[in-house]
Amino acid sequence: MNSSSFVAIDDINKQELLDLLERTRYFEEHPNSKILDGRVVATLFFEPSTRTRLSFETAVNRLGGRVIGFSDASTSSTSKGETLKDTIKMVSNYADIIVMRHFLEGAAQYATEVTDVPIVNAGDGANQHPSQTLLDLYSILKTQGRLEGLVITMVGDLKYGRTVHSLLMAMRHFKPVFNFVSSPELRMPEEYIRLCDREGIEYHEYTDFSKEVIDSSDIIYMTRVQRERFSDIMEYERVKNLYTLRNAMLDGSKPTVRILHPLPRVNEINTDVDDNPKAYYFEQARNGVFARQAILTRALGIDPLKL
Ligand code: CP
Repeated sequence: MNSSSFVAIDDINKQELLDLLERTRYFEEHPNSKILDGRVVATLFFEPSTRTRLSFETAVNRLGGRVIGFSDASTSSTSKGETLKDTIKMVSNYADIIVMRHFLEGAAQYATEVTDVPIVNAGDGANQHPSQTLLDLYSILKTQGRLEGLVITMVGDLKYGRTVHSLLMAMRHFKPVFNFVSSPELRMPEEYIRLCDREGIEYHEYTDFSKEVIDSSDIIYMTRVQRERFSDIMEYERVKNLYTLRNAMLDGSKPTVRILHPLPRVNEINTDVDDNPKAYYFEQARNGVFARQAILTRALGIDPLKL
């Protein structure tokens, strides 16, 4: 495996995470340059995406690099039966780095085992979404002024939502208090609960998205119920609309609370929240460009602060 790959948020330690956040801040201040001139970035999306793919591609374009790839695997030779291994080996002939999203958990890790080209995981099934986590952390840092000691409330699909898994793994460095709000079917998986127990992280599990929980939060991280991960569509229908944040529910919340959502949303945040200054999800997505510039340059061994 190329050690520059970024497959899971726990591939990097706390200091490396802080360095990436510093790099993200640099790129917010200097989004345009030619530091990727002559570099080719492949974006292979075996699952649909709007933000992740387009923000990675924007990140490359703003840094003067070139992008190849596909946004729909049915237009690639995957549809003829080519294996993931062969696809990765072929694209490694053309690109300096591969950004990939795949529906199978562990697919990005597998890719690192068949190529020496750095792999960036843009989401693997219900497992992890580490580049999303960097932009989430950056958004938290920007809005709260710190990462330490925050009350983070995660709401919705905590079972299949890969963004909350990665976010939990990253925030564990910063003494958080977690509120996990979900139906019993979609509760945070046991491995993450056990990790909180092991590391002495305070957490509370709720089925009720109550005023007490909302009013105690510094960050409310809403998530979409991941229809594409359900084998039983009836179960999806039963849980899909359990939690919707409405503007009136924020009366009495902390003035500094911010609402995050990795997007896309379906019904989890009513549009009447959008104009509330506590809503931050559109700015959060904008931060994705800078976070992905930081990830790409790190993986390619380019330090913008030393150029
Ligand atoms: N947040 C996120 O991963 O969005 P996309 O699925 O649109 O990339």
